[in-house]
Amino acid sequence: MVDLIVGLQWGDEGKGKIVDLVAKNYDIIIRSQGGHNAGHTVVVDGKKYALHLLPSGVLNPNAMNVIGNGVVVYPKQLIKEINNFDKNIKNKLLISDKAHMILDHHIAIDQAREKLRGKNAIGTTGRGIGPAYADKIARVGIRMGELKNIDKLIEKLAHYYEMNKGYFEYLGIDIPSIEKLREELEEYKKALGDMIVDTTKYLWDNFDKNMLLEGAQATLLDIDHGTYPYVTSSNTIASGALTGSGLSPKKLNKVIGIAKAYTTRVGNGPFPTEDIGSDGDKIRKQGAEFGTTTGRPRRCGWFDVVAARYAVELNGCDEVAIMKLDVLDGFDKVKVCIAYEREGKIDYFPSDLDKVKPVYIELEGWDKSANVTKWEDLPNNAKKYIEFLEDKIGSHIKYVS
Ligand code: IMO
Ligand code: MG
Repeated sequence: MVDLIVGLQWGDEGKGKIVDLVAKNYDIIIRSQGGHNAGHTVVVDGKKYALHLLPSGVLNPNAMNVIGNGVVVYPKQLIKEINNFDKNIKNKLLISDKAHMILDHHIAIDQAREKLRGKNAIGTTGRGIGPAYADKIARVGIRMGELKNIDKLIEKLAHYYEMNKGYFEYLGIDIPSIEKLREELEEYKKALGDMIVDTTKYLWDNFDKNMLLEGAQATLLDIDHGTYPYVTSSNTIASGALTGSGLSPKKLNKVIGIAKAYTTRVGNGPFPTEDIGSDGDKIRKQGAEFGTTTGRPRRCGWFDVVAARYAVELNGCDEVAIMKLDVLDGFDKVKVCIAYEREGKIDYFPSDLDKVKPVYIELEGWDKSANVTKWEDLPNNAKKYIEFLEDKIGSHIKYVS
């Protein structure tokens, strides 16, 4: 059995918190796409962990953690995260030999290209995600399994740098010295080599265990179905998690979608319900909406039912968690976008969001939902808000955080 946790908005929904909450029910936690652009904050016993590449199950003493074939791995970051733990977690982690590697030049390319785009920048996390996936698709990428034979890998990389000489020059990026590169690759191999296996086979062989696919980024950042080109470079939706792990669609049991009680976005691109006034500021302040990965202030706004319904359908959500409800505490009225307007009403998330305007309805606000642990104890208007969302998005809201 495999369940899946997926973000329904533009990321940072609180996926890590829910993964950590349910992780004890699972034996194997799997990351299947993205890389260290993700930032999952989990607090355990008062200690705060910011995970970027490690699956959130590393905080569960009994779970195995898998970095699947669909992930792009920056070994330097992974080693750093592993070393951040007081105890040894290496025996609880496997890395797919098919996962592609991010090297320093991918990061340099990402940042140089963003600079050249100027005001049209995507606002990437600058972690080399796009360039690494681009190499994968162009069939010139490096897979983690290639660390087994560093001589061969060096030969391949030398050819790669030769082929891309003009491009590197144009971007103002230095080609790394092969000797330095060899040193680095040896270091990666030493630190990670024992964990690199065929994780697809591992998952198949262990399918009698309970598995959880932990999504990174989110539906509206999906390379195909998101707000292209202001997206990340992987398929973030449920079907991408299957590609990124080697599990067949028939194996998927339950899909849990995660959404915040409002909406945030970090980076550029359309965001119909963004509030650039005092309401947005208040949400940012109350919700501490600053990026885990880059520290950037997040753009904030109201819940968007059109986008959420689209995300529920794309992922086939069985249940939804609504996060950070208490951030909306203290608003007189809360707004919800129930349709868009662009030469008439649209109630479907269109392929481009050019010039769409949100159509809002206002619901009564509430004073205090923070620290409530029972549904019955929520303020009436908070309950009504959740029930309204449930009715509109087409999926059962099983958790409220
Ligand atoms: P988690 O898993 C929020 C956004 C970036 C940018 C776009 C492309 O914490 O929810 P990339 O570096 O991926 O090429 O950037 O995607 N982005 C995220 N936004 N949460 C994330 O991850 C994100 N990962 C990427 O801000 O707009
Ligand atoms: Mg994040």
